[in-house]
Amino acid sequence: MRTSALTSALFGVLAAVQAQEPGYDGYPTCIASTVPSNETISFGRHYAVLNLDLINLLVSGVASTPAGSAWIGNVARWNDAVHAQSPAPLSIFTRIYFTNSHQPEIGPSSPFAQVGGALGTAASNLTAIYPAFYVNDTAGDVVLQKTRYYAGAGNGLEEILRAQQIDTVILSGIRTSGVILSTAYRLFDLDYKVYVIANNTIETPPNTPDINTNILEGILPKLPIDVITIEQALAGLNNSGPAVY
Ligand SMILES: *[C@@H]1O[C@H](CO)[C@@H](O)[C@H](O)[C@H]1NC(C)=O
Ligand SMILES: *[C@@H]1O[C@H](CO)[C@@H](O)[C@H](O)[C@H]1NC(C)=O
Ligand SMILES: *[C@@H]1O[C@H](CO)[C@@H](O)[C@H](O)[C@H]1NC(C)=O
Ligand SMILES: *[C@@H]1O[C@H](CO)[C@@H](O)[C@H](O)[C@H]1NC(C)=O
Ligand SMILES: *[C@@H]1O[C@H](CO)[C@@H](O)[C@H](O)[C@H]1NC(C)=O
Repeated sequence: MRTSALTSALFGVLAAVQAQEPGYDGYPTCIASTVPSNETISFGRHYAVLNLDLINLLVSGVASTPAGSAWIGNVARWNDAVHAQSPAPLSIFTRIYFTNSHQPEIGPSSPFAQVGGALGTAASNLTAIYPAFYVNDTAGDVVLQKTRYYAGAGNGLEEILRAQQIDTVILSGIRTSGVILSTAYRLFDLDYKVYVIANNTIETPPNTPDINTNILEGILPKLPIDVITIEQALAGLNNSGPAVY
């Protein structure tokens, strides 16, 4: 085999392996932030932190990969930094689970049954928030049930954001092409300023990391939604608040 043929064969194998790995901000190239590094970010005082679908079933699926463990570390670091704010801003978590074992929110032919139908009720550990992500009930963290992609489908999300006079939301979660994309579009259309933390999103196989990169570098910036790094988000926290909640 000539060297170029060997090289292209190796790239083919590499691409096939990558397609089975989660898509993530640094794999294989770093997601570019929409905010230049010399500009400071402030989330203002009326911001809410959205931690989407961080449930055991979904998180366990990526936890054993390098991309997955980096993602878990970054989301946990962000969540802890948010909770260290005084006062703590509004943090909203979503969980996918069904009201009872009949899964009344989906029929057998509901499109979402294909992706969510394996999940159980609130009592199932598969639907609980992954232990690395601390939920502070005392600080007023909210945990919402959802049974579709959009974070606010069938629950009080929009009511809560409106009642708390939130104008800015910061998204983390799993997966980029599911809850992140769906929620970013909807909240953008409802006139919220939307930030997505690139390091805090992840795309499950197949066809990753291309899908992840296309969404974070192509689709979301075009709305425009700001896609930022965790470093920028942490610095942004310091320029924000005191949070009103
Ligand atoms: C966050 O992602 C950016 C690129 O999107 C990368 O440069 C940076 O190293 C990542 N930070 C961490 C802590 O993983
Ligand atoms: C950041 O850098 C760009 C390009 O060098 C420049 O045009 C812009 O004014 C700078 N922004 C700030 C806030 O300094
Ligand atoms: C629930 O699942 C998580 C993640 O897989 C695991 O760490 C934890 O031990 C489980 N809890 C129970 C009560 O089974
Ligand atoms: C949880 O929130 C309460 C009230 O804001 C705060 O006093 C406490 O320190 C928080 N706990 C942690 C572990 O962040
Ligand atoms: C934010 O402020 C805290 C407390 O003053 C500090 O420890 C931390 O380094 C700052 N983080 C950034 C990213 O500026």
